[in-house]
Amino acid sequence: MRFEIVTIFPGFFSSIFENGILRRALAEGLIEVGIHDLRNFTHDRHRTVDDRPFGGGEGMVLKPQPLAEALASLGIEPKAQRAQAQSAPPQVVLLSAQGRPFTQALARELAGLDCVVLLCGRYEGVDERINQLYCDMELSIGDYVLSGGELAAAVVIDAVMRLIPGVLGNEASGEFESFGVADAEITTDSDGVPRSQHGSGGLLDYPHYTRPADFAGLRAPEVLMNGDHLQIRRWRREQQLRKTLANRPDLLERAALSDEDRNLLESIRQADN
Ligand SMILES: C[S@@+](CC[C@H](N)C(=O)[O-])C[C@H]1O[C@@H](n2cnc3c(N)ncnc32)[C@H](O)[C@@H]1O
Repeated sequence: MRFEIVTIFPGFFSSIFENGILRRALAEGLIEVGIHDLRNFTHDRHRTVDDRPFGGGEGMVLKPQPLAEALASLGIEPKAQRAQAQSAPPQVVLLSAQGRPFTQALARELAGLDCVVLLCGRYEGVDERINQLYCDMELSIGDYVLSGGELAAAVVIDAVMRLIPGVLGNEASGEFESFGVADAEITTDSDGVPRSQHGSGGLLDYPHYTRPADFAGLRAPEVLMNGDHLQIRRWRREQQLRKTLANRPDLLERAALSDEDRNLLESIRQADN
């Protein structure tokens, strides 16, 4: 999968791609990344990418012309002129606080594409005509305002590339983290422990512990150290439910839950009241 980033701060990304899973995914050719300096698509001595907003007001706006030229250099035409027949056209994503919320489900959607182009805004944002003409999606990484789209682009790339087969080594491991497919069918495993057909089934992950068993006066849960895998699975499922109820009760509405899960949730709620 290929990511193309258009930014006025290309240097921002160097450390991000030089560490951890991202570095390995690049080295192994599982992802490719192109970083494009918007200033290379200007034609004046000062390499100007911004201008004052029509109608007045604070701040500056990224001019449409350099962005359009940057996209043209990537072979991206305005939406109206893109060939219908192109089987997997690149998805042009505008990072924006006004965008569709970025979720694990959207990360899964993007991970199925061959190429995603990420436009990083700065100042007050990007001239809206770029959005109208070229962008398939406006995407927000959360309900707060960042200084630029670069951090948001890095977040999107990180979340998406983890879902590309081979990147995490164990193909399934991403599925068993928080936000696994929510509407998945719920079954029980051979021991009767509820289990979503798709990992966490839309719940948050359970808490994790490692050595030492005693730390700062706190002992890791005994159940995790006694080797009884049935008990461990039951405990983890209960912790997922507890954590989701405490931190993200909204997720429970769509999560894949068994009758046993629902009963357990009810008793947790009653005990907490
Ligand atoms: C200072 S912000 C512009 C904020 C804009 N005037 C508003 O109020 O929505 C500059 C750039 O940061 C990026 N940005 C800010 N917050 C973001 C968010 N929550 N998600 C994604 N990108 C964001 C966008 O690319 C935006 O164009």
